Amino acid sequence: MNMSSEKVNIRDIILKSKYIVALTGAGISAESGIPIFREKNGLWTKYKPEEIASYEAFKRHPDIVWQWYIMRMKKIKKAKPNKAHHILSKWETRGILKSIITQNVDGLHQGAGSKNVIELHGNIWRVKCPECNSRKFLDKIPRYIPRCKDCGSILRPDVVWFGEQLDPEILATAYNEAKKADIMIIIGTSGIVYPATYIPIISKNEGAKLIEINPNDTALSNYADIIIREKASISLSKLDKLIGI
Ligand code: OAD
Ligand code: ZN
Repeated sequence: MNMSSEKVNIRDIILKSKYIVALTGAGISAESGIPIFREKNGLWTKYKPEEIASYEAFKRHPDIVWQWYIMRMKKIKKAKPNKAHHILSKWETRGILKSIITQNVDGLHQGAGSKNVIELHGNIWRVKCPECNSRKFLDKIPRYIPRCKDCGSILRPDVVWFGEQLDPEILATAYNEAKKADIMIIIGTSGIVYPATYIPIISKNEGAKLIEINPNDTALSNYADIIIREKASISLSKLDKLIGI
């Protein structure tokens, strides 16, 4: 669907809605300079996920895994929230957007001021002890492999790795938001990682309209009622102007 021919329709749909929820993925942070995972130049074309983002890899080579996370932390630390993050934050303040469900671990939504952010895959700035489960936020990028103050084990990034379950409480919160949504805006995700990709389907089954914002076709495109085939910052700026709040 073409945005210009749908302008009136989108404006109407958004202004009449009562509960908008956003689902975001790596694409929303791409314009902040953080590489996405898939497609050309994506992180998973350079690294094998199972060799970096799995508990087995961490057990076998905690040094390699930490090196990779430290490299990502450095990139993320330099990154600033972009226009897309800022518009979502503004929409929350104005009461238009109720929550953001994100697959990103970069914290840029919170950096832009968003409050109700559900982090499905954890946060790169938090570490967890695999033995005693204690968690803490890092105040700086570690120079050495960090260890647990309580039990001495090597700490791990508190992110969800391949083969791991999502935190059931966080997932339940996300599903609940998905059920309440009358519009879900899906921004910058390829929609192939389960269970995140199931979230818009829940909304759709409950009668919500799905708006996809992505320069490329995705696994969720077929379910979308409205598709805006442009980068997140451009699409959201246009929508923001259109609804004029
Ligand atoms: P992907 O890398 O799979 O997909 C990124 C999406 O962003 C693609 O569909 C791109 O077309 C789109 N994109 C690129 N630039 C964009 C821009 N400027 N504006 C809008 N969209 C843009 O990333 P995710 O779908 O987030 O999981 O990946 C999901 C999960 O897979 C990640 O959370 C991570 C990864 O493995 C874990 O680490 C558990
Ligand atoms: Zn411990």
